[in-house]
Amino acid sequence: MSKIQAAITCVGGYVPEDKLTNFDLEKIVDTNDEWITSRTGIKERRILMGEGLGTSDMAVKAVQEILDKKGIDPMEIELLICATTTPDFTFPATANVITDKLGMKNAWGYDVSAACSGFIYALTTASQFIETGKHKKVIVVGGDKMSSILNFEDRATCIIFGDGCGAVLLEPNTEGLGIVDSILRSDGSGRAYLHQKAGGSVKPATVETVMAKEHFVYQEGQTVFKFAVTNMAQVAYDIMQRNGLTGDDVTWLVPHQANKRIIDATRERMGLPEEKVMINIQRYGNTTNGTLPLCLWEWEKKLKKGDIIILAAFGGGFTWGATYLKWAYDSK
Ligand code: UT7
Repeated sequence: MSKIQAAITCVGGYVPEDKLTNFDLEKIVDTNDEWITSRTGIKERRILMGEGLGTSDMAVKAVQEILDKKGIDPMEIELLICATTTPDFTFPATANVITDKLGMKNAWGYDVSAACSGFIYALTTASQFIETGKHKKVIVVGGDKMSSILNFEDRATCIIFGDGCGAVLLEPNTEGLGIVDSILRSDGSGRAYLHQKAGGSVKPATVETVMAKEHFVYQEGQTVFKFAVTNMAQVAYDIMQRNGLTGDDVTWLVPHQANKRIIDATRERMGLPEEKVMINIQRYGNTTNGTLPLCLWEWEKKLKKGDIIILAAFGGGFTWGATYLKWAYDSK
C-alpha cells in the first residue's frame, strides 16, 4: 500500500471588515505612517468590532467556507485543532466552541498554544492523525483576535498586530502530495522578551494587574527581531537542505507576517526572488496564528498541484519552525 500523506485539500479564511490604518493610529498614539511602513511593511490591519465576539466567531466563518466549497457535512469532520493565542476562554478550548457552533457533533478537538508558530505546530500535529490512517478529515484553524490583548497606548506593540483567521482541511493523499517534512523548534528562555504578564496561574487577574496593564502583549521588539530574523531564515534554509531543495525548486515561500524585514531576510537566505513570496502584511499586519493560513487562503487560486511550498514561522515562546509540502490540487 502506498504511504499516506496529509494533504491540504481546501482553505478558508476570514478577516473582519473594520480597518485600522496607520493614519488612524497616528491619532491614537505618537507614531506615523512613514515609521510603521518602513520598519514593518504594515499599512493597515483588521479589527474585530462588536460586543461578545471572539476568535471562534472568525474561525466559524473560515471553516464554514471550507464546508461550503467542499460540500462537506459538518458531521464528517473527525478532529479540529485550533492554534490560537487569544482563545475565547482560558477553558474550554476554542476548538470545542467552534465545533459546537458548526454542529460538528462527531469531532473532537483541542487548542494548540505556540504563539506565532501555532499554525505550523498544529498542522504538523494534525498531519500525524491522517498519516496513521486513524482520521480522514481533519481541520486546522489558525487565528487570533489580537486587538483583545493590545494596549492602544503602547506604540511599540499596537501598530504591529491585527485580527484574522484561516483554516485548512487535511485529507489523506497517496500520490506523494501533501506534507513532506517539518522542523519544529522552541526555546522557552525567550519568554522573557515576548509574553503577557498576568492572567495565567502565576499571576491571576486582580484589580492591580488590570490597572498596571499587565493583560496586554509585552514585547522587547529589538531582541525578538534579532532572534526572529536569524531563526526563521535558518529553519527555512535547513528544511530545504534536508530535502535537497534549491531556490529554483521552491514555488512559494509562505512566511509568518511579523515584519517585512524578517520576511526579506528569510527569502534571501533561501535564494528566492520576491515573486515567490506570499506577502499580505501590508493589509492585515501580524495576525499571529492567522498569518500562514490567511496567505494560503488569498493565494489558493494561484496554487497548482505539485507546487513546492515552504511555510516558515517564528513567535513567542520562543517557538519557530518550517514545513515543506507539495500542493495537492488545482483550484477551480
Ligand atoms: O510575531 C511574533 C514575533 N515578533 C516579531 O517578530 C517582531 C520583531 N520586532 C520587530 O518587528 C521590530 O523590533 C519592531 C517593529 C517591533 C520595532 O522596530 P525597531 O526597528 O526594532 O524599532 P525599535 O524598537 O528599535 O525603536 C526605534 C525607535 C525608538 O526611538 P529611539 O529610542 O530611537 O528614539 C522607539 O521609541 O523608534 C521608536 N518607536 C516608534 N516610533 C514611531 C517605537 N515604536 C514606534 C512607533 N512609531 N510605533
